[in-house]
Amino acid sequence: MNKNVAVLTSGGDAPGMNAAVRAIVRTGLFHGFEMYGVEMGYEGLVAGNLRQLSARDVGGIMQTAGTFLGSARSVEFTTEAGRAKAVRNLEKEGIESIIVIGGNGSQKGSHALSRAGLAVVGVASTIDNDLYGSDITIGVDTALNIALEAIDRLRVTASSHRRALLVEVMGRNCGYLALMVGLAGGAEAIVIPERELPPERIAEQIQAAHERGKKHALIVVAEGAANNANRLAEYFAQHHLGFELRATILGHVQRGGTPTAFDRLLATRLGVAAVEALVRGEHGVLIGLLDNRPGTTSLTEVVGRARPLDLGLLDMAGMLSR
Ligand code: F6P
Repeated sequence: MNKNVAVLTSGGDAPGMNAAVRAIVRTGLFHGFEMYGVEMGYEGLVAGNLRQLSARDVGGIMQTAGTFLGSARSVEFTTEAGRAKAVRNLEKEGIESIIVIGGNGSQKGSHALSRAGLAVVGVASTIDNDLYGSDITIGVDTALNIALEAIDRLRVTASSHRRALLVEVMGRNCGYLALMVGLAGGAEAIVIPERELPPERIAEQIQAAHERGKKHALIVVAEGAANNANRLAEYFAQHHLGFELRATILGHVQRGGTPTAFDRLLATRLGVAAVEALVRGEHGVLIGLLDNRPGTTSLTEVVGRARPLDLGLLDMAGMLSR
């Protein structure tokens, strides 16, 4: 393996990505590698936007959300011609190793680069927590805390007005955030793509909460559910719930929060482990948190799979919302 290593952040940004880049660059320099940053994810790789990074370049970024390298969802990289350009740009700089920080789509890209002969290591990062090969991914903890803080605030005003509140959280194909926030926020109903609920069932649950004398009711819905906030709000406008309803879509606010201590530590540990994998000559793998330690899973296993959701927690939330 040569001594030049590139790092990129890809897909949706996640709080903690900067801490991961910092850890990767400084660990790489410690092991005598020359470190390069790719700007704007795979888009930048296809365009050849790479620059060498020093230890100073990654100073003062650990506590910030977002990614100072920039990130993108590249369409060109999904084509063979785009990937060939990306590989040529790495070759031009004499780079044979690359570390990709991102979620499902990004690790699909890692797998493709690995098959093209590069030494690739993925680092598990997405607020969705749907990546196979990591118990929890970088950014999840911060996103959860932001959503929970918002729900706590919304509950106060909903309670004052005896209203039901409908809160949509992120999660394109996955209900992890909705489930966890619903459980931690004491939701009366949780709507996730893994177990869809027809609107009539949700209405029944909210009416029952009203009849039990609750001052408010909380419905948490995942963005990726068939009945998302907009559809449910439309349905509830025509149906009696007992409560008046207000809907809030949290959206990207969940991605921009100051990374929690958990996310900074997770990103740091995974970043260091990614470089150490390259030092051992291990690549074609994802670095994730497995049983509380950084562990590796082959990218071949990661691609096309999703981390399973513990649906027992949904039943638990239902029981506790009495
Ligand atoms: O994958 C992370 C995520 O935040 C999803 O929860 C969401 O559906 C998506 O990214 C939004 O993507 P974008 O920032 O491109 O609108």
